[in-house]
Formats: sequence, structure tokens, C-alpha cells
Amino acid sequence: MVADRLRFQHAGHYDAIGRALADTLDRQLSDRPDPLIADVGGGTGHYLTQVLTALPDAVGLTLDVSKFAARRAARAHPRGGAVTADAWRALPLRTGAVDALLNVFAPRAAAEFRRVLRPDGVLVLVTPAPDHLAELRAPLGLLDVDPRKDERLAEGLHGHFAPAGEREVRFTMDLTRDDATTVVGMGPSARHIASDDLRARVRALPEPTPVTASVRVHVYRPREDSDTAAPRRGRPRAEDPA
Ligand SMILES: C[S@@+](CC[C@H](N)C(=O)[O-])C[C@H]1O[C@@H](n2cnc3c(N)ncnc32)[C@H](O)[C@@H]1O
Repeated sequence: MVADRLRFQHAGHYDAIGRALADTLDRQLSDRPDPLIADVGGGTGHYLTQVLTALPDAVGLTLDVSKFAARRAARAHPRGGAVTADAWRALPLRTGAVDALLNVFAPRAAAEFRRVLRPDGVLVLVTPAPDHLAELRAPLGLLDVDPRKDERLAEGLHGHFAPAGEREVRFTMDLTRDDATTVVGMGPSARHIASDDLRARVRALPEPTPVTASVRVHVYRPREDSDTAAPRRGRPRAEDPA
């Protein structure tokens, strides 16, 4: 999955998402000198790299449970570092040390996010919209995006964060059959489709296939009355499909 994600992102297909994140963080952090931006479940550091490139005074840290991903992220940008860390446990960051937390298609733990963020910090998350990769879902038999995803996001953060904005990022990608295979490998559907079936279905696609990318960028602010010492109640749901 990491190799698929790297190949797809390096081809530039999701660059518009990175630009939207950079623009959002630029606005949110305009009054901060040398802000620290941490990307939890940041993978190989792709989006953090785009953000750091756009914000010349910022420094960044990728946290990811995968050693392979963290090694790549550590080399991704001169102002970025990386550590291996499990988002379901205590993060290796001081309380209130982070100006902005990024979370893109990755696990999120509200109480711990709240602890490491400054009280006036910002949490920026990306989730897939229901029409994300719409043209591939029926032909390839991909899992649907949960239509209650945003509701679940808000429920999971409630008590620690309040919504402070949202924007949609929607564009069309022209994907080759190889790209289509790769994007399936990046998401949860990969575990549900036998590789022979996938190959046969992909062969039937026109080339290139116009495919919708559709995500939501959510901005949340810490709640003043948040109880940062609240015990975690079980493991939240796994990462979002992308
Ligand atoms: C769908 S990928 C997204 C990666 C990156 N945000 C991106 O969009 O390119 C999910 C990432 O979350 C990481 N991850 C999964 N479980 C995790 C956990 N418990 N703690 C930290 N990272 C985790 C995976 O290793 C993977 O890099």
C-alpha cells in the first residue's frame, strides 16, 4: 500500500489536495512565527512536504506507525523530520507543543490530538466525499465511502474540538489502467478484491478513464473546556479509504 501511494502521489494525481492543505494552513497560521506542523499518519510525508514548501517559516514532523513510511518521510523535506508512533497511544510530543495538526486519510485520536496542540492551535483533516473515485466504484467493485463519515468525524472529535470551517476539493484525474490499479491498492478495497478479478475488471476500463477525486478539508479548533485528561474509550474506527 505504501509503494502504491508513493507512485500515485509522485505522478501528481492528488497534488490539488496538497495545494488546498497548504492554502488552508497558510491562512490559519499567518500570525505564527516558525509554526510546528505535525502530520499524524502522515505516511511518506507527501502532503507535509507540499505544505512546508508553501510555508517557508514552518517546520514539520511526520508521525506514522510504519517504519518504512517514516524513513521516507524523514528524507522528504529539509525542514521536516519523522518518528514512528502509534496514533492510538501517547504521541511523543510535549503538551501544547504543536501549532497545527494534519490528518489525511489516517487514524485520529481526539484526546491525544487535543493534548499536543496549543490551545489556539488548529486541526486540519481530510476525508473522502461519497463521490470520491465514483467512476471506478461500480466497474471495479470498490467499497462505498460511508455516507455518515463526516457525522462520525464530528462525533469522534466532539468534546475536544469544535468545527471551524470546511472546504470541498473536487477535480477530475485522467487515469491509465495502471493508475486505476494503483489507486485501488491504496485503499481498503484492495483487501476485498482478488488480484485476478481486479486485473480483468481494469482491462475493461477505457484508457484514460476520467475519474473524480472528491475530498473534504475540515478545520477544527480545540475546545476551551476540553478535558485533555479524559480516558480514551476504545479504539476509534480505522483510516479512511482514499
Ligand atoms: C491511508 S494512509 C495515508 C497516508 C498519508 N496521510 C497520505 O495521505 O499520503 C494511512 C497512514 O496511516 C498510518 N497508520 C495506520 N495506523 C496508524 C497508527 N495506529 N498510528 C500511526 N499511523 C498509522 C499508515 O501507516 C499510513 O501511512
